[in-house]
Amino acid sequence: MKAALFYYATLLTAAFAHPGHHKAHVPTGSFIEWAPAGPNDVRGPCPMMNTLANHGFLPHDGKNLTQEVVTKGLGDALNFDAALIQVMFKQALPANPDFPNASFFDLNMLNTHNLLEHDASLSRLDAYFGNNHVFNQQVFDQTKQYWVSPTINASHITNSKLARMLQSKASNPTYKFTNTTEAFSIGEILAPFIAFGDVEMVTVARNLVIYFFENERLPVKLGWSRKTNAVALTDILDLAAKLSNASTLFTGVSPLPGTGKRDVAISQRDVHAAFGLL
Ligand code: HEM
Repeated sequence: MKAALFYYATLLTAAFAHPGHHKAHVPTGSFIEWAPAGPNDVRGPCPMMNTLANHGFLPHDGKNLTQEVVTKGLGDALNFDAALIQVMFKQALPANPDFPNASFFDLNMLNTHNLLEHDASLSRLDAYFGNNHVFNQQVFDQTKQYWVSPTINASHITNSKLARMLQSKASNPTYKFTNTTEAFSIGEILAPFIAFGDVEMVTVARNLVIYFFENERLPVKLGWSRKTNAVALTDILDLAAKLSNASTLFTGVSPLPGTGKRDVAISQRDVHAAFGLL
């Protein structure tokens, strides 16, 4: 609690000390201002980290993402809890080739295949087929087919995830998708509900999610705004469990006691699974 108070006090101080100004190392960001990556900027496979760099909540060049920078960026833009970001950050650091002597990562360091980046992404090609980190419209069109109503629910999002896995397994001879990948992947499919939707209802407006993926921009002009309450970790845990359980082709209880999807998801510690692990 003290840490959280300190965090918000720091944010407030920073906001008043630098109204509207971009600091060199800990950028202020803007929900309105947006620019895609320029020639000297780097981006990676995460649509949200790219988006936050495009808005300046993270350094626009996508480089030198320290814990301080990531904490402020994800806190300011999405109202993420500082403790949660700490876990996510620590799990991203091994992407820096200098790890364990690294204190930052660059967004393109996340491209390393089968470290954090994996096959069967919702919006990127498998590494086997080419570029594994730039948004790919054809891949995303496959995903979108399963978002069959203006409101995406747990079934829609998990259907799209399963479809991408099947497509990848059927066509990619190097297809790899482990329990760790599953946990990471569950964290990714819960992310749109966390950032743009209703965590309790497990719903999110499809137009917001599509706009975000296709533009790597926060869907402000479609009426979205940052959540006013910090996302509660209990909500996140609940959401991870619901989506884990929904991402099976079985109905009812898993026939393998003790190896249900939920057990798998919450037993793996990785960046996105951190959403449900504190
Ligand atoms: C330290 C913070 C973060 C790191 C290091 C990170 C890293 C990554 C990486 C490496 C991927 C690629 C996985 C793949 O191969 O598909 C990814 C995907 C993704 N991330 Fe993040 N991420 C972070 C925060 C977030 C946040 C805060 C959100 C949204 C609330 C988010 C949303 C997503 C989504 C939706 C995908 C899936 C993209 C797809 O399947 O095409 N990430 N992230």
